[in-house]
Amino acid sequence: MSTDPKVSIAQMEKIVSLCKRRGFIFQSSEIYGGCGGIWDYGPLGAELKRNLRTAWWNTMTREREDVLGLDACILMNPAIWKASGHVDTFADLMRECSLTNKRVRADHVDPQSGTVLKYSGAQSPTGWRWDRTITALTKSGEHIESFRKRIRVLIAQNAGEAAGKPEEIELLNEEKIDTVNGSVDFHPETGGILGEARPFNLMLKTYLGPTATEADVTYLRPETAQAIFAQFKNVFDSSRVKVPFGIGQIGKAFRNEVTPKNFTFRSREFEQMELEFFIKPDEAVDIISGEVAKWHEGADLSEPQPNWGWELWHRYWVDQRTKFYEGIGLGGVLEYYWQTPEDLAHYARACVDILCEFPFGTEELEGIAARGDFDLSAHQNASGKTQEVFDEELKNAAAKLTDEQKEALIQKRLAAEAAKTKGQPLPEAAVRAWFERLFKGSYVPHVIEPSAGLDRMALAVIAKAFEESEKVDEKGKKEVLTVLRFHPRVAPIKVGVFPLLKNRPEMVAKAREVYALLKKHMNCFYDETASIGRRYARQDEVGTPFGITIDFDTLGEKGPELLDTVTLRHRDSGEQERVKISELLGKLLPLVS
Ligand code: GAP
Repeated sequence: MSTDPKVSIAQMEKIVSLCKRRGFIFQSSEIYGGCGGIWDYGPLGAELKRNLRTAWWNTMTREREDVLGLDACILMNPAIWKASGHVDTFADLMRECSLTNKRVRADHVDPQSGTVLKYSGAQSPTGWRWDRTITALTKSGEHIESFRKRIRVLIAQNAGEAAGKPEEIELLNEEKIDTVNGSVDFHPETGGILGEARPFNLMLKTYLGPTATEADVTYLRPETAQAIFAQFKNVFDSSRVKVPFGIGQIGKAFRNEVTPKNFTFRSREFEQMELEFFIKPDEAVDIISGEVAKWHEGADLSEPQPNWGWELWHRYWVDQRTKFYEGIGLGGVLEYYWQTPEDLAHYARACVDILCEFPFGTEELEGIAARGDFDLSAHQNASGKTQEVFDEELKNAAAKLTDEQKEALIQKRLAAEAAKTKGQPLPEAAVRAWFERLFKGSYVPHVIEPSAGLDRMALAVIAKAFEESEKVDEKGKKEVLTVLRFHPRVAPIKVGVFPLLKNRPEMVAKAREVYALLKKHMNCFYDETASIGRRYARQDEVGTPFGITIDFDTLGEKGPELLDTVTLRHRDSGEQERVKISELLGKLLPLVS
């Protein structure tokens, strides 16, 4: 993708326009002017998302023996959000425009240049007065009169009816106070000077119960992960599983993003696909296996091993998730950002962001964090309900340790606590109490969390698949053709079925037969209108990987050997092959599932 911002913006505009035109993604509530940061998926978008969801679910749960599924509710007891830290710390730093009170994320203000003007206040013939200093930046190339007009409109919008008509507002005592270059102190849209950065909680509040008072406040979940932690014990106790094992969940999440942007990339309502993979603490692995395997470049990550600690499990999941993305056509556009010790939360041991190339830049698609036992322990402490598991193998192995060996393990952990640069080291008494439980076979599991966003994944897949080419027809007329080169596994429509001529009833009947045969197994599209070339082009534009044409040969008109065969067209290679109708399913199913 281009590094030229103009080309990137144009590319993104084309993608947004195609998404609307062909029914992938629509602005929510469009007929009422939209609803910021909320998007609806049309017929093809719904299929695309469903395919991505199914791919994730099958890869992460069904095809594995060690991961179970969960489908928890969006609304939960607010105590969960207090315990998880979201009530107190799930916030972005925001700055507020002094003119309009519009907020912007402190790290989302692009540098601006221009002249800074100041007014001591404003008044209008209605008797309304604004006794507040107004400081704003002129936009590049903006005429002073346009600037004044713009400021009057903003003030009128903010003040409401009392201020009267914008054109009648008088700006008082204009003063040119500065010329700035590359300043991040002005609101990117309004030009109003920004206030100090302050934390702004991203959770969407609602009320559960009849009184709608503060006592009834709860939140729309900002992530699906916490429900997994809150239901950890129920799943563990009801499913006859042993650590290591995981719980996966797909579902809606809500964040009151202050600057939703880049189409669906940063939305206020979105879908997450999260796995919490519970593992033994390294000390338990050490006791059972006599060692904790260390990761090294080229380490074999294909099969999990009993001597894996958090580091190898974390690497394993980065590898698994990379393979997943390659399997849906995103190979080659991924990058990895390994968070530095400064980036990491105090409880996290490692976190890697899987980044993907979008037209607007290389951005996060998924985060994979090694979170220790932070989450389950937080819920254990807040709820008073144990989140420990009992491990017979650990108890038996610990029983064979000498006192010196046990003390050596304790000393190693104490040294690690003392070396901590973030968070409070665990006091010695707490470390000893923890080991006492561990030697009896009990511990709170640690967790590796691969957390992906479905909407971002869909956008990444669309952006990667988008391709334009220019075609010149026989008359020399240029036409721009768009192709979405979706991987067949995620393509919303797998096959287009076309009778060559719609006025040949036998051809149409055969095409309908083929369509009926395939549609039970995959999403197909039947089309008998326009030329065959136009029909192929329409399907290329929505990313259909295969086209089937029923023609004279199918009817046996060119010889019995071709009777009941069709032309199968491959979108990407342009190759056309003759296939028996009876062999179509067997050929297509492995390619699209
Ligand atoms: N439980 C961990 C967690 O929620 P996160 O990095 O905040 O971590 C995980 O979110 C993923 O969810 C992101 O990598 C992204 O794909 C998706 N996501 C987060 N906020 C989003 C938003 N506002 N719009 C769309 N997707 C979002």
